[in-house]
Amino acid sequence: MQAAEVKADQNAAFAPRIFSGIQPSGGLTLGNYLGALKRFVEKQNEGIETIYCIVDLHAITVWQDPEKLRHATREAAAAFIAAGIDPVRSVLFNQSQVSAHAELGWIFNCVARLGWMNRMTQFKDKAGKNSENASLGLYAYPSLMAADILLYHATMVPVGEDQKQHVELTRDIAAKFNHDYKVDFFPVPEPVIEGAATRVMSLRDGTKKMSKSDPSDQSRINLTDSADAIAQKIRKARTDPEPLPDNIDGLKDRPEARNLVNIYAALSGETAEAVIAQFAGQGFGAFKPALADLAVAKLEPITTEMTRLMADPAEIDRILGDGARRADEIAQPILARTLDIMGMIRSR
Ligand code: AMP
Ligand code: TRP
Repeated sequence: MQAAEVKADQNAAFAPRIFSGIQPSGGLTLGNYLGALKRFVEKQNEGIETIYCIVDLHAITVWQDPEKLRHATREAAAAFIAAGIDPVRSVLFNQSQVSAHAELGWIFNCVARLGWMNRMTQFKDKAGKNSENASLGLYAYPSLMAADILLYHATMVPVGEDQKQHVELTRDIAAKFNHDYKVDFFPVPEPVIEGAATRVMSLRDGTKKMSKSDPSDQSRINLTDSADAIAQKIRKARTDPEPLPDNIDGLKDRPEARNLVNIYAALSGETAEAVIAQFAGQGFGAFKPALADLAVAKLEPITTEMTRLMADPAEIDRILGDGARRADEIAQPILARTLDIMGMIRSR
């Protein structure tokens, strides 16, 4: 599949609007924070219209324990707010409260081609060897993601590196819909993948992504981890015996070292080059404690605020409900127009 070509002014008719989502399929990790949440806050603070969604309908593409899903959804909302999302300035809600996502998702199942879906690497990774036993929802997952984005005519989608292919599929769906119905109705949104840590790797294996679903808790830093747990996980993180090099090229074949440097850079707001310049020639005996201190200093206030927010689940539910009402107001006219373009009668 060729990601849809966009003419320079393709999105000119659309106001800049950001949409992104995170699955409540477990607790959030440092990967989610650096690759997504932290950048969501920056976008909000740049004054762009921002819509953020806790994608519970995506989470159930693999079975979720109902009580855990409810908890993880509230905890994700608490993480967004604790990280700096203001639920008044941004729209913050959980996906299943706005039924238009599922409706537009179905429509896009009829736009997306099987050949496109068959190329999705996340499906292959998640379904594994036993793909016959994967849910149909897991296969259709990217077309629901396209619906999430296009339901709001979003033009920019901040994500981590692993979601690039899904945003490209979204572009193809938008372009095909516009082409098939001879309209310029959907924008062709841009993935926004920026910063020093667009792909945070496992602390146990520098070739694997840090993930909330990794069986080893030592592989990740959770946003709910205590200061002691964070420091201990960084101390025990897998590394090599070499000191840090004096330039970034020296990290090329050292995935674990590179990962820790990138994490340091993303947390401190410096470039990886600046971090290397500061620690060149030092071993991990010096670098790891510095990284642990930095991680604790940045994450502890977020964890503390999450705990405070989680003590009042009714307030979190109120915020999500308010966000869902505002999201629905934007989504409904876009869904109605989509159905009309396709020839569906709307007469009630
Ligand atoms: P997920 O947890 O799969 O719902 O991901 C939510 C967001 O976090 C997406 O934008 C992902 O690309 C991003 N993300 C998840 N894991 C990582 C990671 N290890 N490094 C960077 N970004 C990540
Ligand atoms: N698929 C994304 C992930 O796992 C989550 C997601 C769902 C999303 N809908 C989205 C991200 C829309 C960006 C925009 O990380």
